[in-house]
Amino acid sequence: MNAPSERMPLEIVTTTDGLSSLAGGVLVPTMGALHRGHHQLIELARRVRDERGLSGPVIASVFVNPAQFNEAKDFEMYPRNLATDARKAADAGCEVIFAPEVEVMYPGGKDGPEWSRPVDLPECVVDKGLEDEYRPGHFPGVYLVCRRLLELCRPAAAVFGKKDWQQLQLVTAMSEREGLGVEIIGAETMREEDGLALSSRNVHLKPEDREAALGLSRGIREAQRLGQAGASAAEAEEAGRKVMRRAVGDGFEYFEVRDAATCGEVVEGQPARVLCAAKVGVTRLIDNDGWVPNE
Ligand code: PAF
Repeated sequence: MNAPSERMPLEIVTTTDGLSSLAGGVLVPTMGALHRGHHQLIELARRVRDERGLSGPVIASVFVNPAQFNEAKDFEMYPRNLATDARKAADAGCEVIFAPEVEVMYPGGKDGPEWSRPVDLPECVVDKGLEDEYRPGHFPGVYLVCRRLLELCRPAAAVFGKKDWQQLQLVTAMSEREGLGVEIIGAETMREEDGLALSSRNVHLKPEDREAALGLSRGIREAQRLGQAGASAAEAEEAGRKVMRRAVGDGFEYFEVRDAATCGEVVEGQPARVLCAAKVGVTRLIDNDGWVPNE
């Protein structure tokens, strides 16, 4: 579509009309409230598009997906500001924003054909005692919206953050299962200097929540340190969990060391991933990181 150095003015698309002419680029799905982490995802999308000489644009979708929220309050509280998001996306190198209304994504709403379309959830998000347990209905909603976005925008590749680890595994499996032919690219989690993973939800953290919030990344680092030094997954998990529990107190939800690909039990010699979640004040935080045994 355009040469690597060329910058297009940002186009904002809200309907499905003309979307087919935007196929073949790189998509960055978001729910808006863009922060530096999204900036990095969009920059990566731009690099991939340019380096591979793909014909389509860099698109960021901005859609707060009602189907993936299990609490109405969480959906309502989700920050929304399209004008600010559009400016930030353009700064990062985005060329098109796809910002549909709910009716465009799910014609007929909850009872319409898109919202009620069957989903084929992969193993990594079923009965794992992780996000699947703490956010019932979340992953079917993510599956629905990501399939719809990929079908509508028809990118060659799509970029997702590794911070939502189970989601990344889910979307990778979904693209394959549905025969969408979209390459799913995982982007590293961006962190504040003190280790806190960037998240749109961090705006709700009060200054006095900070120490507790850091419990997640500190617990992960402790588990990683032990895991990389040759401790068993169980030992690494126990030590990391203790660190996190001490910091987050009653808000603790889970801290698990799992197989990175299946999110099930750790497999000897295979990459391991620590996944954790906690409520800090009114904010629910998740984080993860991993290691490869003997590396
Ligand atoms: O990670 C997110 O922001 C959302 O789950 C996604 C992928 C945009 C789907 O709504």
